[in-house]
Amino acid sequence: MHIGIDIGTSGAKAVAIDASGIVLAQHDESYELYSPRDGFAEQNPEDWFNAAVKCIAALGKADAISFSGQMHGLVLLDAAGNVLRPAIIWCDQRTEAEAAYLTDTIGNEKLSAITGSPAMTGFTAAKILWVQNNEPDIWAKTAHILLPKDYVRYKLTGVLSTEPSDAAGTQLFDINTLNWSGELLDALKIPLDRLPKILASNEVAGFYNNTPVFSGGADNACGAIGIGVIKNGTAMLSIGTSGVILAPVDHAVSDKLGRIHTLCTAAPGGRMLMSCTQAAALSVKWFAETTGIADDELENIPDSTNVIYLPYLNGERSPHPDPNARGVFIGLTANTTKYDMLRAVYEGVAFSQRECLDVFRELGVEIKTLTATGGGAKNRKWLQIFADILRVAISVPDVDQGAAYGAATLALLAMNNEQLIMNNKTTVYAPGTDTDYSGKYEVYKSLYVCLKGLSI
Ligand code: XUL
Repeated sequence: MHIGIDIGTSGAKAVAIDASGIVLAQHDESYELYSPRDGFAEQNPEDWFNAAVKCIAALGKADAISFSGQMHGLVLLDAAGNVLRPAIIWCDQRTEAEAAYLTDTIGNEKLSAITGSPAMTGFTAAKILWVQNNEPDIWAKTAHILLPKDYVRYKLTGVLSTEPSDAAGTQLFDINTLNWSGELLDALKIPLDRLPKILASNEVAGFYNNTPVFSGGADNACGAIGIGVIKNGTAMLSIGTSGVILAPVDHAVSDKLGRIHTLCTAAPGGRMLMSCTQAAALSVKWFAETTGIADDELENIPDSTNVIYLPYLNGERSPHPDPNARGVFIGLTANTTKYDMLRAVYEGVAFSQRECLDVFRELGVEIKTLTATGGGAKNRKWLQIFADILRVAISVPDVDQGAAYGAATLALLAMNNEQLIMNNKTTVYAPGTDTDYSGKYEVYKSLYVCLKGLSI
């Protein structure tokens, strides 16, 4: 039995699989996300570790353990391995000044050539600069810098390591040489010995009670593996807290505007192109909680609505890297119900993915079909809206255990994945012939442009 554990934003999810990839059991543990100020997003690394230990205990003795995890987070440890401050996680947007500094001192052209993206507020490098600038005493005590899943693995095994798919999301990693960039580390005054060693995703990093613990991968990289998005020409639509489109590619594709990133896959030496929006299923969760819509009402929506929603609850990354963007409803009347607005939320999130998909197309990456994964992929009404708005067929695997499953199969043996998932049946959502969102999509796109820079 192989266990894969995903260190997600709302909780840890673990699956146990047998030698042929069949899921034997699963276990979830939730934890808190703290937002002490607008734009701040933090978690307690001990919560991740405690959740992982409970998952392992619940699933029983394993032949191997592997991890996937939320990307771009910053965990700082002192020389004795103690956590120095709460982790600053992927959706945190406090680093506008630091991203501007990266652009000024290094230049976006060079950053893109080395790391696959121009300066990004959400990536780890800008967060390290923020700590250097705002918490110099913490920075002075910092001996080790880790990513979320790598911290949990370190606590289990005592080994400080990461792997290319997560390292690429730090903006300190050279996606060409697959190693830390000495040039960037020198420029940002980050000593190399504070960063973990790089292992391959399908390599054993250490042992926990004699059980081998694999390196694993970033959640999106593992999610793609788990649903068979491995070869060029395939692509993933992940509808989780964030909304991600991911396509494996042969070589880095530079987007000077930072709308989408070139990153590394969890398959050795692989590259992927990826967009990430900050509030996909999060928009639905927020709206349902705020208006008191229960889970079993989530498909209870009218056939159309005149309301438009912009999903920028946490600022935005793709295709508008803008920490100051904010969520918007437009077109409300006295007849608008919360179910009209819920439909608008589904459509707005789908429009944001359509804008990302259009960037892939603009950069010459043709995406003909998408395989969907994540919590939002369980909502049939929403999937049809995605197919209608994206104008591509969306396949949904009948069995989908997300990134944790991809992590477990990496441990089983990365190169067997295609074999493992071939038996998984899918349901296909084709674009409707009687739906035309083109006019509404044009209005949606114009709204960000009109509202940019306005603040209250
Ligand atoms: C990807 C990203 C998110 C997190 C969510 O760039 O920031 O998808 O990985 O866990």
